[in-house]
Amino acid sequence: MRQTRIALVGAGGVARRHAEVLAGLGDVAIVGVADPVAAAAASLAQDTGAVAFDDVAALLDGTDPDAAYVCVPPFAHGEPERALVERAIPFFVEKPLGAGLAVAEEIGAAVAEPGLLTATGYHWRYMDGMERARELLAGTPARMAVGTWLDRVPPVAWWTRRDRSGGQVVEQATHLLDAMLHLVGDVGEVYAVASWAPRARFPDADVDDVTAATLRFAGGAIGSLAATSLLPGKQRAGVELLCDGARLALSETGLVVADGEVVEHAEDAWLAKRRVDRAFVDAVQGRGADVRAPYAAALATHRVACAIADSARDGAPVVLAVGA
Ligand SMILES: NC(=O)c1ccc[n+]([C@@H]2O[C@H](COP(=O)([O-])OP(=O)(O)OC[C@H]3O[C@@H](n4cnc5c(N)ncnc54)[C@H](O)[C@@H]3O)[C@@H](O)[C@H]2O)c1
Repeated sequence: MRQTRIALVGAGGVARRHAEVLAGLGDVAIVGVADPVAAAAASLAQDTGAVAFDDVAALLDGTDPDAAYVCVPPFAHGEPERALVERAIPFFVEKPLGAGLAVAEEIGAAVAEPGLLTATGYHWRYMDGMERARELLAGTPARMAVGTWLDRVPPVAWWTRRDRSGGQVVEQATHLLDAMLHLVGDVGEVYAVASWAPRARFPDADVDDVTAATLRFAGGAIGSLAATSLLPGKQRAGVELLCDGARLALSETGLVVADGEVVEHAEDAWLAKRRVDRAFVDAVQGRGADVRAPYAAALATHRVACAIADSARDGAPVVLAVGA
């Protein structure tokens, strides 16, 4: 079987995770790794049997891959995607699509016009409970969605700076927003408040460490999102969907459906992170059409996350152009 040749842009934590999953698929070869930190590129290249580069253009021209993974921090998006679009190379890009909205809008337009194959790291769409929740909500739509992400500051230096990560909602709780959009539909308006206080352990931080947002979905449902990075570890990350007569609670660990008593409890098999890569590689190979969050869908989610960040900063509601 011909191996699908994949190039990795970025050689940090999530690139290593994708490399491990891709190696396990059996029909993929990692051909090159680019990272401006030469030691990071060299280490991942050595572990994957690939060639190391310090620059995206050199990586793409030197390896001529079938597809690429963009696994850079939020602030570093733009240059890698432009290089891929220019060469018409299909790509998988990690969330968020940027620290802000401008680059993501530019790339969204650039991939739409030629219809370039893209996928993104919104792997919650592949969790076992997600399909079941969509099935149940198709019969009894959610009237309210309540998202909660209670966590720590992740151990990457760029995270605590607003201009590097975009902040917790843009970088992290965006998974919940994506789940909400997938389960409930477009968001038409948000209003958020957030606050920051000095913490001795994070002297350079300027990201909010608590955020509360209210959402109005275009279809009439309402929602809320609470996020904090004040805790020593992840204590909860999930979405509850409230319907006429039932509550669905979806998290990384599974789906609970209750109508007063628990009527269904399905544990997640932790395959979402494998499925998201399998679906992209299948699409690159021209078989299968199960990319559930192409760039355009991820951009819709990113717009909501950025609108929440803008609302918290400016102290005013933000109206979104639904269906843009
Ligand atoms: N979907 C998920 O579950 C998930 C999990 C973890 C991280 N992520 C996302 O993946 C992204 C990366 O996270 P991470 O934990 O791997 O960060 P990281 O800091 O561990 O790694 C990022 C790497 O990208 C490199 N880099 C920076 N600019 C670059 C450029 N222009 N070209 C090539 N490489 C460049 C850095 O030197 C670093 O080695 C973040 O946006 C994060 O939100 C997603």
